[in-house]
Amino acid sequence: MTQQAEPVAGGPRAHEFAGKVALVTGAASGQGRAVARALVAAGGSVIGFDRDRPLSYPAYLDHGADELDRLADELGEAFLPTRGDVRDQESLDLAVSAGVERFGGLDIVFANAGICAYGYSHELSEQEWQDMIGINLTGVWHTTKAATPALIARGGGVIITNSSIGGLRGMRRLSHYAAAKWGVIGLTKSIAIELAPHNIRAVSIHPTGVDTQMNDGLAQAEGKTPEEIAEASAGNLQPVPWIETVDVAELVLFLASDRARYIDGAQIVVDAGLLTA
Ligand SMILES: NC(=O)c1ccc[n+]([C@@H]2O[C@H](COP(=O)([O-])OP(=O)(O)OC[C@H]3O[C@@H](n4cnc5c(N)ncnc54)[C@H](O)[C@@H]3O)[C@@H](O)[C@H]2O)c1
Repeated sequence: MTQQAEPVAGGPRAHEFAGKVALVTGAASGQGRAVARALVAAGGSVIGFDRDRPLSYPAYLDHGADELDRLADELGEAFLPTRGDVRDQESLDLAVSAGVERFGGLDIVFANAGICAYGYSHELSEQEWQDMIGINLTGVWHTTKAATPALIARGGGVIITNSSIGGLRGMRRLSHYAAAKWGVIGLTKSIAIELAPHNIRAVSIHPTGVDTQMNDGLAQAEGKTPEEIAEASAGNLQPVPWIETVDVAELVLFLASDRARYIDGAQIVVDAGLLTA
């Protein structure tokens, strides 16, 4: 990951999310953290959820238990740190109820927590497959299940799921990742149908490689540089190895806003043109 400070989206629309409350999973790092910062910068409140104990998964670089607290110190009253595991429904239910109690309701969900690792499909262990599906697909379902009653009670809202370009194509040595990310689309589109009568939209986003610790972990596991990893797994049309977390935050804030009020059930790519060719 590049060392310069991550840019923060949302500045020009300083009050756009005033009074809005968001649940962001995977908030301690990368895209989740950038979205949390951007929402708070735009006047919103955030329930930030991340893992409650070190995760042991190939290529996962643990950011340490303090990262969520550091973000809470930085963002102040508008940020509530909550901990658990997206594989554990109860931990998400508790996070939502604590957030609703603190902030008075829930409007936006960014179901984002995830992991990634390489392995040929026929060489993956049962555990690697189950962890991937458990976190990257079932974890998204748990997140939406925990949040939906609060969104309905609010009279409307939006659910944004973080899939990947791997949710729109096959990827060598990423079959378990792609299977989970394709599953996220089916889940998101079905939720959109079910929840439209409640004035709740559901949209999936599909980033190309993003400069986060996920990429760094893959690079370390493969003995390569993060740039080599990004280029090998992505191959963007635009001449950049990856996009930045701010590019994802900009998209998520737009989709979460009323400016996107008729974007529903869709798959939105932010891929530097990758899927064009
Ligand atoms: N980095 C990329 O190139 C890229 C590209 C497209 C999509 N994505 C997706 O974006 C999402 C965010 O990834 P990122 O790039 O910000 O990576 P990241 O590793 O920086 O952040 C992921 C966060 O999710 C948390 N997390 C992982 N497993 C968890 C669990 N079981 N319970 C609770 N929290 C858990 C991690 O602790 C971490 O804070 C993931 O779903 C990923 O698949 C990433």
